[in-house]
Amino acid sequence: MEISITRTTTPKAKPEKGAALGFGKIFTDHMFVMDYCPEKGWHDARIVPYAPLMMDPASMVLHYGQAIFEGMKAYKTKEGKILLFRPDKNMARTNSSNDRLCIPKIDEEFCTKALCELIKVDQDWIPQEKDTALYIRPFIIATDVHLGVKPSQTYKYIIILSPVGSYYPEGINPVKIYVEDNYVRAVKGGMGHTKTAGNYAASIKAQEVAQEKGYTQVLWLDGVERKYVEEVGTMNVFFVIDGKVVTPALEGSLLPGVTRDSVIQILKYWGVPCEERRLSIQELYEANDAGKLDEAFGTGTAAVISPIGELNWEGKIATINGGKTGPIAERLYNSITDIQNGRAEDVLGWTYEVK
Ligand code: COI
Repeated sequence: MEISITRTTTPKAKPEKGAALGFGKIFTDHMFVMDYCPEKGWHDARIVPYAPLMMDPASMVLHYGQAIFEGMKAYKTKEGKILLFRPDKNMARTNSSNDRLCIPKIDEEFCTKALCELIKVDQDWIPQEKDTALYIRPFIIATDVHLGVKPSQTYKYIIILSPVGSYYPEGINPVKIYVEDNYVRAVKGGMGHTKTAGNYAASIKAQEVAQEKGYTQVLWLDGVERKYVEEVGTMNVFFVIDGKVVTPALEGSLLPGVTRDSVIQILKYWGVPCEERRLSIQELYEANDAGKLDEAFGTGTAAVISPIGELNWEGKIATINGGKTGPIAERLYNSITDIQNGRAEDVLGWTYEVK
């Protein structure tokens, strides 16, 4: 499929060098769009000026949330090369989410090419200061004009780009996390393993309540027994207990994060033991009482590695590593961001050059 390119005639001012970018507030000049209908499949691939979408108010996505998205980042190296990080994993996860949401599959190779073309058009928007990147948000929405509940017949696949800094205002400094014991995010058999809008809609009430109490995010427990740790707000979660790294196993209700997988593989490469298993909140608190909860951190594309300095579970406060960033979290952050930005040798073959 050909990709047509229409360039904007009114380019926007780019952020000043060194300006605080925040997360997801600024958008580049162009976006990629393609449409789906049963007769033509995915078609009409185009890069067009970034603009609002015209939508019928009865579009199905607005009512039933048949939507999926991804999060990726592009980096510009000192030498001016543009790198993506494991885009194949995001493309594969798009199709896994599509399958659960009854959305037609995308051609992963074609969509990677489309993404590269879009990034090339907007490459001057890639920030180069430390801890910044061009965040990539591909998403698919159901566009049938219909109020019955059924899979839509038509869709739009869109990619937008946003120069970003740290996801949390804390940056690489530890965040305080509230252990959620009232609301649940997902259960096995639901959509927790997909990147669908509804999972995030389900999470925002808990996040709001936690923030009112002075916490940045929540740590979700399993939706059945409220006993086992699952993930943190917008990240997967890891703990270092008595020198061993532990992360909840993927059992259907949590997101198979690309950064999560990368952390597990890097730890293996370093020879640091990492277990994927069920982990109860009780076990964590007991480890903390015994002085064996060495570190905790979240992982995600947006947040990269986000150390956790404090947990609050039913009013019991666990301060982790004295509320400071631990050595494993710091080493992982440096190692991953160095590979992503082309500052370190890509020993695991994860970077993908946009050409
Ligand atoms: C990401 O880490 O890329 C995400 O998609 C999380 C997000 C909801 C900001």
